[in-house]
Amino acid sequence: MRRIVRGLRKSILGMGQCWRIPVSSEHWRLSVIYPPRPTQPDAALLRFCLQAVSRAMDVSFAELGARSAGAARYLEVFPGEHYKLLAGIVGCLQDEGGQLPIVEIGTFTGLSALAMASQLRNGKITTYDLMPWTSLQRDAALRAEDFSSGTIEQRVGDLADSRFFSENAATLSDARLIFMDGPKDGVFEYRFLRLLRAIPRTTKCLLVMDDIHVWNMLGLWSELDLPKVDMTSFGHWSGTGLCVLGGTLPSK
Ligand SMILES: C[S@@+](CC[C@H](N)C(=O)[O-])C[C@H]1O[C@@H](n2cnc3c(N)ncnc32)[C@H](O)[C@@H]1O
Repeated sequence: MRRIVRGLRKSILGMGQCWRIPVSSEHWRLSVIYPPRPTQPDAALLRFCLQAVSRAMDVSFAELGARSAGAARYLEVFPGEHYKLLAGIVGCLQDEGGQLPIVEIGTFTGLSALAMASQLRNGKITTYDLMPWTSLQRDAALRAEDFSSGTIEQRVGDLADSRFFSENAATLSDARLIFMDGPKDGVFEYRFLRLLRAIPRTTKCLLVMDDIHVWNMLGLWSELDLPKVDMTSFGHWSGTGLCVLGGTLPSK
């Protein structure tokens, strides 16, 4: 009984605290904090994360910064935005050797695809969106020449749709890095992950999820039963999560 009263008091006092947002930022979201779930990252994943952060610190986007107002504003922000971390991750995966096929969900302005492409020496980024990059009215960072070498390809379609997913299963199965930066609508990510985890993998894959602290993503990330690391302090302020699909990363 005493425990129930204590729990109720804590919840009511906690709710009371919500009336005043205790941070002075032009941009904030309500979220939930909770202790880590039993699935722990293995040593190889932790080591990989440390290497990626270290690599991210040396990334410069000086040239890309001139692409758009958004590029000038966000690309060099580190930590706080995820662009340098994405580049650091690609650099580290590239160092492991071999071809590096990357999948991105959510092309939008193209900033994340360009950030990853900046470190790609031997690979390809297949970026998905519901709308072609050419239809963006404002702040597009992509240019036609970015697609000429074949390093970046955009495919238009919904990967939560089982038919479109099947048509693209080979690309997803071969990917060594998947960056999920789609709608975060509480539906897409669940459906996509279910489809993704059902296909056989030809290779282990690092899955990077944006916005894991945003309300619609909280349940997905907290319940995810894969080795995972919350990289938010070195990624996007709204949450950046890393996990491994289909095996562990090699330890260095
Ligand atoms: C946050 S933006 C991506 C930002 C981009 N990665 C960047 O850093 O510039 C989200 C994008 O996801 C796209 N999107 C929404 N639903 C989608 C779906 N089912 N499949 C693929 N992309 C989707 C939206 O059109 C939007 O362009």
